[in-house]
Amino acid sequence: MFPKSNDIFNADDARRMARKRLPWMLFDYIDGAAADGRGEELNRQRIREIQMMPRILNNVEHRSVAGRVFDTPTKLPFGISPMGLCNLAGPRADITLARMAAANHVPCGVSTVASTPLEQMIEWAEGHAWFQLYLSGEPESGERLLDRAKASGYETVVLTVDVPEVGRRPRELRRGFTMPFKLGVPQFFDFACHPRWSLATLAAGKPQMANFGGKFGEFDRGSSRAQSDWNTLKRVRDKWKGRLVVKGVLNVEDALRLKDEGVDAIQVSSHGGRQLESAPPPIDMLPIIRKAVGAKYPLFFDTGLRSGEDIVKAYALGADFVFLGRALSYSIAAKGPKGLDQMVSVLVNETSSTLAQLGKTSMDQIDASVLV
Ligand SMILES: Cc1cc2nc3c(=O)[nH]c(=O)nc-3n(C[C@H](O)[C@H](O)[C@H](O)COP(=O)(O)O)c2cc1C
Repeated sequence: MFPKSNDIFNADDARRMARKRLPWMLFDYIDGAAADGRGEELNRQRIREIQMMPRILNNVEHRSVAGRVFDTPTKLPFGISPMGLCNLAGPRADITLARMAAANHVPCGVSTVASTPLEQMIEWAEGHAWFQLYLSGEPESGERLLDRAKASGYETVVLTVDVPEVGRRPRELRRGFTMPFKLGVPQFFDFACHPRWSLATLAAGKPQMANFGGKFGEFDRGSSRAQSDWNTLKRVRDKWKGRLVVKGVLNVEDALRLKDEGVDAIQVSSHGGRQLESAPPPIDMLPIIRKAVGAKYPLFFDTGLRSGEDIVKAYALGADFVFLGRALSYSIAAKGPKGLDQMVSVLVNETSSTLAQLGKTSMDQIDASVLV
């Protein structure tokens, strides 16, 4: 007789449980990617193909997975990617993430379309929150958000630039996913088939784009951001005196120009493969961009990281810090705050064990020399 466990032992477990728990429409929103998802898969395959060389007989008894982001020490080597309408994964998902950020001193990405107002998120995160800005509609709307971010104590803004138009994700489109929700017969049927999620969400209140509404105006997720250009970046840089990270960069020339424009850090990312299916795998672009911007320039990475080994590989290829999206969201969808705790401890154990295998004791010892 084998015990039947519903614990999370890796990110795949969390994904499998999330798939069972969530209405199909919402699983497809979180899990989905651009076009038929091959670009997203290819990036994960490229990460899997990277080999690291085990080393033996180094004393690796005392190991730390702590990291550093800008000048702030972090207890984990990864932070939380901004995810819009995060609470679709489960009630209070974004607050659960903010509390995890507070406990581990890692940045919690707070999306423009977060489901809890940005003012509350930074409080829950005890200051460990970065505000993610989408520029859409009239410029004043972005400026108002930056004013609110400053007034509530944010020191870092992440400008996401890889969504000139929301990517075409057929899995979402087929389910009729829109923000805010439009409920038709298929969605009612979907929610009725997932009563656990539906009742919990009903009790907690329908997830909203909480930074908008009333005096803050409306946000249309599908609206074009195509008018943004380098002048837009200049305006944001002039206005935002705190740290500015630009997220969603894959091209070397773009990276060099961002550095010249006074951006404080670049996040190499393909938005989790959700925008352009044929984009190069971000993991392949990471070392090339690192080489171009130089060893000292702050470079972050996200997309496709699902394990401690993946995290170490991204560091080895030049990332100073990394961010996870879906792996964390799946874990909350699977089991709420307990799921996130389990996922975080899995990632910590996997990272620590990877360090041991490589003969290393800390993340700052990881560089290209660990690669085969
Ligand atoms: C459900 C979901 C919502 C997202 N919403 C946003 C968002 O509002 N702003 C943003 O900059 N990125 C958003 N992203 C992209 C993530 O910040 C991140 O780039 C991506 O999830 C990383 O890839 P991974 O999920 O494979 O870890 C979203 C991703 C997911 C899965």
